Amino acid sequence: MLRVACLPGDGIGPEVAAVAIDVLRALPLDVEVEEHTFGGAAILADETPLPEATLAACREADAVVLGAVGLPELEGAPVRPEQGLIELRRALDVYANLRPATGPEIDLLIVRELVGGLYYGASGRRPDGSAFDTCEYTPRAIERVARRAFELAGARRGRLTSVDKVNVLETSRLWRETVVRVATDYPGVELEHMLVDTAGLNLVQTPGRFDVILTENTFGDILSDVAAGTCGGLGLSASASLGDGPPGVFEPVHGSAPDIAGLGIANPAAMLRSVALLLRHAAEEPELATALEQAVDGALAETPTVDLGGSATTAEFAESVLGRLGAAASLR
Ligand code: NAD
Ligand code: IPM
Ligand code: MN
Repeated sequence: MLRVACLPGDGIGPEVAAVAIDVLRALPLDVEVEEHTFGGAAILADETPLPEATLAACREADAVVLGAVGLPELEGAPVRPEQGLIELRRALDVYANLRPATGPEIDLLIVRELVGGLYYGASGRRPDGSAFDTCEYTPRAIERVARRAFELAGARRGRLTSVDKVNVLETSRLWRETVVRVATDYPGVELEHMLVDTAGLNLVQTPGRFDVILTENTFGDILSDVAAGTCGGLGLSASASLGDGPPGVFEPVHGSAPDIAGLGIANPAAMLRSVALLLRHAAEEPELATALEQAVDGALAETPTVDLGGSATTAEFAESVLGRLGAAASLR
């Protein structure tokens, strides 16, 4: 049996997570899904964004399905929903964040280092009023995510673009040195290096040139939204955060979208594509993953949501996906 811990979170998180649960339960899969409090909702109830019981349930699960976190009223507060997400990733050591982006002539995969860099370095305020965040990387942290990216590139079109800011940052010089060293173990993969500003430009102007992009945490956060923008928007972009073993965390790239929360119009495609990544990477059900991806593509073509210029609500889109899954003979 596949044990899934679901953390709906805030804003549109619970709206799209509910669709994920319906779809998981509709699949011919022996699955148990349990919901746990997380993010702003958990701060308001328990004063912490990641309650101990939630983390314990995640550790015991085969996979974590996460909606989104973030509440406008907690932006800049001393205890913030986003801290729960950052702590969860660290606690589960899900160091490789896979963020695919596809569109006409575009099929790229961003591999974002997820548990290092600026997000996890020393930070604070000084008596003089200044503030600091520090970016640190160890060779080991770079090496393990680089290996994951080379392996993924080897199974795709065999091209890896490592993105850094080697012309300015010391961590980027260590990044590049380490990636070059790891590359000797993957002679079948063609490696190139690119500066992050140029990578942003190319993701907008020539996204079709990329196969796999490997980069550090902050650059990967920004570039994955850029790639999403190039490929139809945040309503479509999925992610899988993987460590060396289970549980992986499967979550959309988007946030809690306070501007549309509660309206019932969030696009659940990004969440459902994340569930497809779960089926592929955590459940070893590649056929179900493909069936779900095809059902989502079909629903996007015929019943597009509001963010894509259509009129389908979250519930209507979910019905469309469930109908297609039910009709797929392979699932009977
Ligand atoms: P956002 O990703 O929530 O929204 C950006 C824009 O995209 C908004 O206009 C929103 O309506 C739209 N959008 C996003 N997802 C959509 C969907 N599924 N369907 C239709 N439209 C969608 O980014 P933001 O507004 O900058 O951040 C809001 C909050 O979310 C912040 O508190 C932020 O910290 C948090 N956040 C959380 C995550 C996460 O949980 N993984 C990711 C990003 C941002
Ligand atoms: C993402 C989000 C998170 C990040 C925030 C909410 C901490 O933007 O998953 O892309 O920056 O990693
Ligand atoms: Mn982000």
